[in-house]
Amino acid sequence: MNRGIRRREFLRHGALAAGAVACGAYLPYSAAGTASADSRIDVLLDEPLGLISPNIYGHFIEHLGGVIYDGVWVGENSRVPNVKGIRKRLIEELQKIQAPVMRYPGGCFADSYDWRDGIGPAEKRPRRTNFWANDEPKNAPSTHKYEANQFGTNEFMQFCRLAGCQPYLAANLRSLPPEEFARWVEYCNAPAGSTTLAEMRAAAGFSEPFGVRFWGVGNESWGCGGDFTAQEYAVEFRRFTTWVPRYDQKELSFVASGPNTDEWEWTRGFFEELLRKGKWQLDGVYGLSLHHYAANLSRGKIADWEKSKGSALQFAPIDWYELLREGQRIETMIENHWRIMGEWDTEHRVKLIVDEWGPWYRSGSEATPGDLFEQTPTLRDAVFSAMNLDIFSRHPEKVAMANCAQLINCINSPYLAHEEKFCVTPVGHVFAMYAAHQGGQGLRTVISAPAVRYDRDGKPATFWGLQGSASLRGKEVVLTVVNPHVSEARETLIAMRGGRVSSASLTTLTSTDIQAHNTFAEPAALEPQTKKLDVNGEELAMVLPAASVNKLTLALG
Ligand code: AHR
Repeated sequence: MNRGIRRREFLRHGALAAGAVACGAYLPYSAAGTASADSRIDVLLDEPLGLISPNIYGHFIEHLGGVIYDGVWVGENSRVPNVKGIRKRLIEELQKIQAPVMRYPGGCFADSYDWRDGIGPAEKRPRRTNFWANDEPKNAPSTHKYEANQFGTNEFMQFCRLAGCQPYLAANLRSLPPEEFARWVEYCNAPAGSTTLAEMRAAAGFSEPFGVRFWGVGNESWGCGGDFTAQEYAVEFRRFTTWVPRYDQKELSFVASGPNTDEWEWTRGFFEELLRKGKWQLDGVYGLSLHHYAANLSRGKIADWEKSKGSALQFAPIDWYELLREGQRIETMIENHWRIMGEWDTEHRVKLIVDEWGPWYRSGSEATPGDLFEQTPTLRDAVFSAMNLDIFSRHPEKVAMANCAQLINCINSPYLAHEEKFCVTPVGHVFAMYAAHQGGQGLRTVISAPAVRYDRDGKPATFWGLQGSASLRGKEVVLTVVNPHVSEARETLIAMRGGRVSSASLTTLTSTDIQAHNTFAEPAALEPQTKKLDVNGEELAMVLPAASVNKLTLALG
């Protein structure tokens, strides 16, 4: 039984037991490129990879633990600064990082959710048992166990509008009929005054349609979303997506519930069954979702997913490398699922939607005790997240959207909040740095660097030395590079093939402490540093510090 299946079993049965900042130093340009660089990055301006979808920098919120209540929603009468009940600081941060898309309301919660519970006058909305109630820790507030539905479709759309992102709704396929899916689409997208549901929307202050384009059809349908086989799910997918009203929306983009990690048989089985009725069925699928969470599993010592999870804050260099190795596997997953999809979808009309990703640790590092699945991200998670975003950027033709799990107070959060307290985590800083890639033309980069060598429980192990991605917008190249080595900086020669650099700046997120992280008490313990580089030429040399995420912004002239 592989690791993915262990997590799948866990979700199916719901059996949860429930520094000092150093910056990259710049070595002066050397015409001969003779700085004693041990590493080299060639950015090939003439080798475009395709447009990088802004949506790969997307986010995800679920009615789970402290994500919605306390994280996003504080209520209009709260002393926490808010806009129409939504945490103001969060809106401002999302605007800064140009958050493109937000997935909601789950996750596993989605397949237990009746969207009608979350509309209409707030005081009349029903209270329900939350999907995660049994998993909530003893000290969790009762609002996390019993869903009061104060945040529903209207509030979510308001949040998206304020933050400037597109909504991506996940529909309930396990416990509601297809008719209710069509009705939710009607509530969101029917023209003003056209139907009773459109009038109910207007009564909430939204006469114009929300115009929701992205619709997930179930979530993790192999586990908490119904425990289907791929073939059974494909039949349900067809049933749910046939004749859904389009209204004025040019396109509804349906995302099919896809595989967990490397479960190739799910992808194969889904397409095989879907196309049994003809190839035209592909027209109804925008994307196939892929989920991959990384824990410190690859040392293979512990069989159980929950017990295998490492600590978020206490870890040794080997745990750092092994976690990155587990995360890196997503690149092979993208390539292999894509290849399998191509056996049926030869023109590759269907894209991959990595709508849950991140490192997932055991409990113990919660900024707010009692928040289910909350963890405190460190520099390791910044490096992990940068590595993942670079992977998505390197496959722009395959990955159309990705959503980090989850936005606030849960798993790989860019932000942590509790009442009036708020901090941007190292992951949040990475999203801010990487926003510059959004909508750029991906460029092929060739990177050579000495591999990291380390001792893996008595056996020698290696990991790549540097990785990154590049994009071009107008006359500006953005190159992001991760140095995963916990203690060695990399002297790196960067060559712009096919252009000259007239000015450059370097932003670096690093620390001499690999466990560095931000807290409510010290929210600025780890922050990126930016400096201008004085350059003019085709090559530049610099030092990329140990354990760092770097963004070079290069103006071509
Ligand atoms: O992100 C937390 C949970 O992980 C989601 O609800 C589920 O889809 C996944 O297994």
